[in-house]
Amino acid sequence: MTDLAPSDDLAALRQEIAAQLAASADLRAWDAVRVGVLGKSGRLTALLKGLGAVAPEARRERGAALNRLKAELEAAIESRRLALEAATLEARLAAERLDVTLPPRPHPPAGAEQGGIHPISRTMEELVAIFGAMGLRVAEGPDIEGDWYNFGALNIPEHHPARQDHDTFYLPADPDGRRPVLRTHTSPVQIRTMIAEPPPIRVIVPGRTYRADHDATHSPMFHQVEGLVIDRGITLGHLKGCLIDFLRAFFCISDLPVRFRASYFPFTEPSMEVDIGWNRRTGELGKGGDWLEILGSGMVHPRVLANCGIDPREWQGFAFGMGIERITMLKHGMPDLRPFYESDLRWLRHYAADPLSPPSLAEGV
Ligand code: DAH
Repeated sequence: MTDLAPSDDLAALRQEIAAQLAASADLRAWDAVRVGVLGKSGRLTALLKGLGAVAPEARRERGAALNRLKAELEAAIESRRLALEAATLEARLAAERLDVTLPPRPHPPAGAEQGGIHPISRTMEELVAIFGAMGLRVAEGPDIEGDWYNFGALNIPEHHPARQDHDTFYLPADPDGRRPVLRTHTSPVQIRTMIAEPPPIRVIVPGRTYRADHDATHSPMFHQVEGLVIDRGITLGHLKGCLIDFLRAFFCISDLPVRFRASYFPFTEPSMEVDIGWNRRTGELGKGGDWLEILGSGMVHPRVLANCGIDPREWQGFAFGMGIERITMLKHGMPDLRPFYESDLRWLRHYAADPLSPPSLAEGV
């Protein structure tokens, strides 16, 4: 049996811990002190455990003294933590101070030529701005795709003519005989997104696509943007509203005529091609009485939803896809697609966008 005076050793412990806390210069040192007192084999823990060995007549008083000390030490430890955290924050604020009153650096820097944003990148930024304002976020997928993602899951079966239309680049077969493809459209990312996450889904997918095709309006590598919206109760009305708003915002023509024309895609039902009004002779958009096909769209085929594990009786949605070069050429009156990839500085200087003015809906993208 111990017959310590009830509180002599405790006063010493209190003093010692107070000194250790005061000396702890950071949260790591502080934690070592905390564990040393209150941890499993901490000093105070040991004293509490030793209570059983104290003579019964002294135990009550000793117990009360230990509990008082425990509360006191806990408060001291907590207050040191707050002080250290405040000091850490102060130090960071001082170190990371930004002077927002500094004048901007000259742009471009003296002696350098002003760089610019390539028109393809600029169109992608505009797509993100417009569809982002509607609540769609960007999703991405690989350029090298499995046959099933590029075709099968999209309801394009093995011998379907759509496979020939796509002039697919095939890669050498893997040991299982499967031939990966360079994706012929951005639609496989619909599949990847629906498999990866439960609905509701609202995404756009800008990205590179590939087809064996080359002339003034086709390149073997080009860009598309895909859109996919899946939710309960989505209708053709949502599709139309979304695309009309997009086309008017993108071409900066608030009364741009838009026409929806019945069409066919294996992955949508019903499917629609979307045309905008223009003047075929002058190339002017928005008036002239002629129609120009601009994108494909439709209600996601129930079989495509089911292929991704989504119950088509509960969820509906729409999808659309279009060529980024094509809408960029129309917007800027570019007659030929090839200069997009030729790195001709004269062309780039003419068409590049200012890197310091990202697209903004308020100004008209
Ligand atoms: N994937 C089609 C193509 O490359 C474009 C397309 C049409 C995408 C309709 C869609 C859609 O999502 O609904 O020609």
